[in-house]
Amino acid sequence: MNLPSSSQGVWLKCHVRDLSSWESMTERVLSELISTVGQMKGAAAAQLLRQHGIERLHEVIDTDDVASLRNQVLERLRQPLLAMATAVGRQVLGWDGDFYVDDYLILRINFPYEVARKTNPSSENPGIGRLSASVRDKFQTRKVIDPVYAPKAYHRGHPPAAWAHGPHIDSWAGHSRDGRNIWWAIGEVPAQAGMVLYPELANVPLPCERRTLYLQAGYRLPVPTYLPLAAGEMLVFDPEVLHGTHLNTTDATRVAISMRLNASRPTFDPACFYSREFWRRAADIEQGHDEVLHLQREDNFGAPVTSAPVQTPPAVPVIAGQLDQTSGLIHGQLPAAGPDTQRIIVDAAPYRIMLVHTSDGTRAYDAACPHYGVDLADGGCDSDKVYCPACAISFDLQTGKSSCPSLTLQPYEVRQDGAAVRIRVAPPAAVAT
Ligand SMILES: [Fe+2]
Repeated sequence: MNLPSSSQGVWLKCHVRDLSSWESMTERVLSELISTVGQMKGAAAAQLLRQHGIERLHEVIDTDDVASLRNQVLERLRQPLLAMATAVGRQVLGWDGDFYVDDYLILRINFPYEVARKTNPSSENPGIGRLSASVRDKFQTRKVIDPVYAPKAYHRGHPPAAWAHGPHIDSWAGHSRDGRNIWWAIGEVPAQAGMVLYPELANVPLPCERRTLYLQAGYRLPVPTYLPLAAGEMLVFDPEVLHGTHLNTTDATRVAISMRLNASRPTFDPACFYSREFWRRAADIEQGHDEVLHLQREDNFGAPVTSAPVQTPPAVPVIAGQLDQTSGLIHGQLPAAGPDTQRIIVDAAPYRIMLVHTSDGTRAYDAACPHYGVDLADGGCDSDKVYCPACAISFDLQTGKSSCPSLTLQPYEVRQDGAAVRIRVAPPAAVAT
């Protein structure tokens, strides 16, 4: 096959058309999706998708239909999908011995945010996958939910269909530490609906927030690496490198499939609360044996992980501001210019304001991302944009706008006179008479 493009051994991109025996697999998945939608919603719905693309899926089904669509398609395509994942191990990663393929397959159907945020709050999370029917009962008896895990507050009332994966590494949620993930675009995946990676943080110890299983707040990230994919392209990456998802701010439904390989028999971190126990051997898949191995957690621990201590990167500077309730102004005094003065946080409870220097002067915005309210001081920043550390969307420093019309930073009027800044957060209070 053609040599894939790659970055530092962390990820590579390849295309299904270069995968011998599996060239037309993307079309097969699309055809299965569309014919299943046809059975569920009628011929006109299927015809619309055939004509205009799977990206219009949200126009013909709603989020309550996604679980059934996922069940049916994964049920019918499970064996060829597992076989294709095995071919990725052989042909892309060059694994020539026996290796392991996770039985857990995810068909990721993410509606546009503007549609998803208004949907049923009890619909299924788009990141949920499916195991083989033969092991589902056993999985239920082995399932462990960390009592500390409580992601609803993080997602700030959004229905699951509008959730975006925050930055994480997969072993925080019980996956083996030496896997390789396949993330395959079934339809087109623009950067504003794709995966993001932080390759600069490969092998860097990172703190996990157990309430969300995402990166702990207070760790300042670099600018995310966006990974747009054409339909049929696959990203093969090391899931122990920090990664997440860009909230789908496009007007198209994003459809992708993810699968997981392990070069050797998976082992689990004894310190993690949970383990992903259901796997298949590549040789079984290739020989047509429908056998799922149950790798019991307690029998398959790896060596205890001895991570180096977390070294938190320097935070964006914070200055205390004085809020004058009568005038509606916050007054602050900027520090002398330092090595990183592009952003400064002005803290004046209940306000937390981010001052940014642009080529056109200083701008002031609320420091919280309007999506989940996450502190933008933890996100990367370059000369034009600031990046949300959670949903990876970017905001223009001049305008506060993002690629999503309903997600714009709250701007404030700001005046700077030497080191003194004055930020208007409210109109002057009416003078009592
Ligand atoms: Fe992941």
